[in-house]
Order: sequence, then structure tokens, then C-alpha cells
Amino acid sequence: MSKEQTNQCCCGGSKEQFTELDKVLAKYEGQKGALIPVLQEAQHIYGYLSQEVITRVGEKLAIPTSQIYGVATFYSQFHLKPRGRNIVRVCQGTACHVRGAKAILAALEDNLKISAGGTTPDLKFTLETVACIGACGLAPVLMVNDDTHGRLTPEAIPGILAKYE
Ligand code: FES
Repeated sequence: MSKEQTNQCCCGGSKEQFTELDKVLAKYEGQKGALIPVLQEAQHIYGYLSQEVITRVGEKLAIPTSQIYGVATFYSQFHLKPRGRNIVRVCQGTACHVRGAKAILAALEDNLKISAGGTTPDLKFTLETVACIGACGLAPVLMVNDDTHGRLTPEAIPGILAKYE
């Protein structure tokens, strides 16, 4: 079946996403300094920057893909791999470290069956470590999306993860 017969486009997403990306590219075409805002909008549409999206952006803005990869890997806001629907950020800062943050990270890795930096195959969770999330009084701490969970024990991890779809 051709891509036209499915709802897929050459950028690996849906036709709707492709149309949205094309609108963004048309809006910025020929403008100086357009790359970062275009990448931000493209990531907003697709959730991450696939190789296909980067190629399309390069073609439309007449920028070599190597240069786009350089920008996308320099800024931590950009993601080159799919991310989970829920982002788990587990603190490994000093206050959390002395209160057992390593064991919390190990419990997360065990429960999710991924390592820090990874995403579950069902794209439900991405697990990241952070240096301090400013809630040291609740150490050890993690965040799932915008929710803060503190005074954690490894035993509490399965119950916390179960709250998220
Ligand atoms: S060190 Fe963990 S919240 Fe500050």
C-alpha cells in the first residue's frame, strides 16, 4: 500500500502532522534565524525530531542536515528519539543522594525495565535524572510530568507509576 493510501506521510507521522509541518515551514521560509523556532514547532507537532523531519526542514530552509543535527544535539530541549507520554524526572542532587536517591532510581529502572535516559517500548514513560528540582526538603524526590512526589521509598514506586496512563 502506498503512503498516499494510508494516513502516513514521508516524515513518519500522520498526514495532519505533515500538513502542519508544511505550514510552519512556509511561515518561516526565507527568514534568517528560523531554524530554532522551526525545530521547536516541529517537535511540538511530532513530539521529537525524526531523521525524516530534519531532512524535510533542511530541504525547505536550505540548511545542511549536518548543521541541523548540530543545533538539535547542542540544545537539550530537542529530542531525536520518541519520548514517553509521561516524563519521570528522578532527582540525584546532593540532598536526595544522601537520602537514598540511588535506590529510588534503581527501583524506577527495575519497574520500568529501562535505564535512565530510556523510554519504555509502549511510549508510556521516559526516565530522566536531574540534579535538583528545588524540593530538597522532600528528599528523595521525583517528578512525573508536573507532579512532585517526595519522601520516597523504593516500595512506593510501583504505586506512583500506576497513577499514570
Ligand atoms: S537535591 Fe533533590 S530536590 Fe534538591
